[in-house]
Amino acid sequence: MDKFAIRGGNRLHGTISVSGSKNSSLPILAATLLTRERCVLHRVPDLTDVRYMLDILRYLGADVEFSQGSVVVEARKVVGETPYDLVRRMRASVCVLGPLLARCGRAKVSLPGGCVIGDRPIDLHLRGLEALGSRIALSKGYVIAEASGLVGARMSLQGPHGSTVLGTDNVMMAACLARGTTIVENAASEPEVADLARFLCSMGAKVRRAGGSRLEIEGVDELHGAEHTVISDRIEAGTFAVAAAITRSELVLEEAPIEHMRSTLSALQDAGVFVEAAEGRLRVRATDPLHPLQLRTGTYPGFPTDMQAQFCALAATIPGRSRIEDDIFPNRFMHISELKRMGAHADLLANVAVIDGVDRLSGAPVMASDLRASAALVLAGLQAENTTTISRVYHIDRGYERIDAKLRAVGADIERLPK
Ligand code: EPZ
Repeated sequence: MDKFAIRGGNRLHGTISVSGSKNSSLPILAATLLTRERCVLHRVPDLTDVRYMLDILRYLGADVEFSQGSVVVEARKVVGETPYDLVRRMRASVCVLGPLLARCGRAKVSLPGGCVIGDRPIDLHLRGLEALGSRIALSKGYVIAEASGLVGARMSLQGPHGSTVLGTDNVMMAACLARGTTIVENAASEPEVADLARFLCSMGAKVRRAGGSRLEIEGVDELHGAEHTVISDRIEAGTFAVAAAITRSELVLEEAPIEHMRSTLSALQDAGVFVEAAEGRLRVRATDPLHPLQLRTGTYPGFPTDMQAQFCALAATIPGRSRIEDDIFPNRFMHISELKRMGAHADLLANVAVIDGVDRLSGAPVMASDLRASAALVLAGLQAENTTTISRVYHIDRGYERIDAKLRAVGADIERLPK
């Protein structure tokens, strides 16, 4: 298992190109199961999670090729069962449930189980698919969904923490091939859901966002192949923007999805970071002093939970008291204990991190635990004195395309040490 060694203190300078979105690519790859015709996807990032999804598509019977960021999928025939050892590696695999049910009339998908950021229920997914006429059974750790023809319905996907991104994706994909019209109230509004909707429409689906969080889907008999370019990754872009802020440097991000980053960019501006957006290029510049943060995560367009850990790392370097609350994943604070090993003054009160920033973090051996917590440790290492070694960097490779190479190219002293 690889490690990163980061010698902190360098100022960063230059341009980073933002990759295609992981959280857009995964459900769009699942949607290719809805047609037997050829689909071509561009700007798909080369990530472990993407390769997991390609393995699942191949297991289900699809022909899959992936080269230079483009994926070709041809699911001429599809079996409706996804085994545990494939699904357990990635919770997002659950988004094959809707397409398999719509395509085959039956889907057997292993329950994703929990993960370090908290319990990952799929009750809203299942409620939505049942509303479309599917019979759902849970047996031996599997979800078994069956339907002799899906029928359009009206439903709400409101849960205790707002809507559900992948739940909205599952229901939307299944409803595309249902008989009649489906109305989804409290559907997720994340840009990645909109990107999936665009792809489905290019396949011949009839999906309309009727204002705010309401989706209308008019079922069709079948979908055809399509070609699509995936949107840029707003979380990767946000992570590199924080890299500029935490090192008090200036970076230019190319291909940044600025219109999807409003809450992240205003959080940076509130901290005193200079942000300038023009023609898809984002300039981020930070000098001392910065101001403490008061943040609370929310569903889009609120402050994203996927940026929470990165902003905890930034707050750890800003003198004064910051308060960061996660209402989406209340347990998503694995990074706090590791940041404290690096000298951060932080306390966790339920789902609120209270952080008193210090002038300089100190390098230490730390362990990655989940994707965004690991990114937070990389960011902290860029600012810390001496060397930070991060083990289990496979967590980072799940969601960041060559993060070490991208950071090295703008002046970071970061090295990947093969175990
Ligand atoms: C997606 O996960 C993203 N993953 C996550 O990004 C992201 O953190 C999350 O949305 C929230 O924005 C992908 O898109 C692949 P949810 P998802 O269903 O869809 C509760 C990353 O770092 N809930 O929107 O699984 C749930 O427990 C990953 O890239 C239910 O109660 O998240 C959570 O508290 C991590 N019942 C909240 O809703 C359900 O049936 C939001 O979950 C489903 C969810």
